[in-house]
Amino acid sequence: MPAKRGADVLSHTQHTSYDVVIVGGGACGLAVAWRARARGLSVCLLDRGALGAATSAVAAGMLAPVSEADAGEPALVALGLESARRWPAFAGELEDVTGMPVGYRACGTLVVARDRDEAEALERELALRDRLGLETRRLLPSEARAVEPALAPTLRLALEVPSDHAVDPRALCSALATAAERAGAALHPGVEVARVIIADARVSGVELPGGERIACAQVVVAAGPWSGALEGIPTAARVPVRPVKGQSLRLRDPSGPGLLERVIRFEGGYLVPRGDGRYVLGATVEERGFDTAVTALGLWELLRDAQELVPGVLELEVEELPVGLRPGTPDNAPALGRSTVVEGLLWATGHHRNGILLAPLTGDLLAAELTGEAVVAPAFAPDRFAAVVA
Ligand code: GLY
Repeated sequence: MPAKRGADVLSHTQHTSYDVVIVGGGACGLAVAWRARARGLSVCLLDRGALGAATSAVAAGMLAPVSEADAGEPALVALGLESARRWPAFAGELEDVTGMPVGYRACGTLVVARDRDEAEALERELALRDRLGLETRRLLPSEARAVEPALAPTLRLALEVPSDHAVDPRALCSALATAAERAGAALHPGVEVARVIIADARVSGVELPGGERIACAQVVVAAGPWSGALEGIPTAARVPVRPVKGQSLRLRDPSGPGLLERVIRFEGGYLVPRGDGRYVLGATVEERGFDTAVTALGLWELLRDAQELVPGVLELEVEELPVGLRPGTPDNAPALGRSTVVEGLLWATGHHRNGILLAPLTGDLLAAELTGEAVVAPAFAPDRFAAVVA
């Protein structure tokens, strides 16, 4: 997308002053914009690219707090469960106000094992989820194949997670942008923020590359893996965010839907059916900085593993080979809420593998914080990394 010049932005913007400027127009930034408008705040959102076109456009859209649960991270599990609980109403409200489908599918998930080692690991996962009180069910291979006949006969074991669902992140971002705009947010794709203007430890606006300024009392940084590099923020107030590369394949069944109904997760990846004959096969997890190259090895490993469990995957047509960068913090949990170092600086970033799952809750929590409520748990406080960035 060609970059808009600052003067164009200011001439198309009703105001040059807002209650809130949001930097980043992915699912979380857009959710914050929508929810902040609902609380009566004036909102301007800027993204240097197209809305929802970076990490969110590559996300598979799994809403999987149970299958991704980590016993060592109880606060993160609770956060994911709470956001999953909000998803049906969030999707329904978005579809009602925009008339646009978001592809929310209450399809459930099967976690599958293809050999003895994976089956033993799955038994441990089952015991762990039982201890956490999360609803899962052990399925014998015959039971798993009865509900998903495309699974290979060599399957060893499956875990059914009836509450882990999926949504289409691209449809979601389109609907969120429409909802936020209709609610009165000023959305500016193609506009980079050169720096956040901070003086005397207080936010007063943002500056665009041409020197134009948009005044605001509060800035929300929702720029995904680019959040840590935003200029103007003092070191002590920064959140260190690194890119975590994920390669994936977008596949399509020329004969239509029906190969899989549920999300299938396996050691090394997942297959997410969109319900219309399209599938997302993902994703690698690579620590390679901002590299977004598609590699033969990445694709081969995904296809090798997937076809062992769902042989029919090799019959599908390849539509696209997206590569994305997840935003990871040092503890891989998000940074949500208000800086204690700079007044008016808030963060909604670092969602790592869970940005789409956490979008509804991120929108609600940040909107509450923006209107003066302190609602985010200390486990997600943006300043918890002070020792790391200092
Ligand atoms: N949420 C799945 C992934 O990040 O690959």
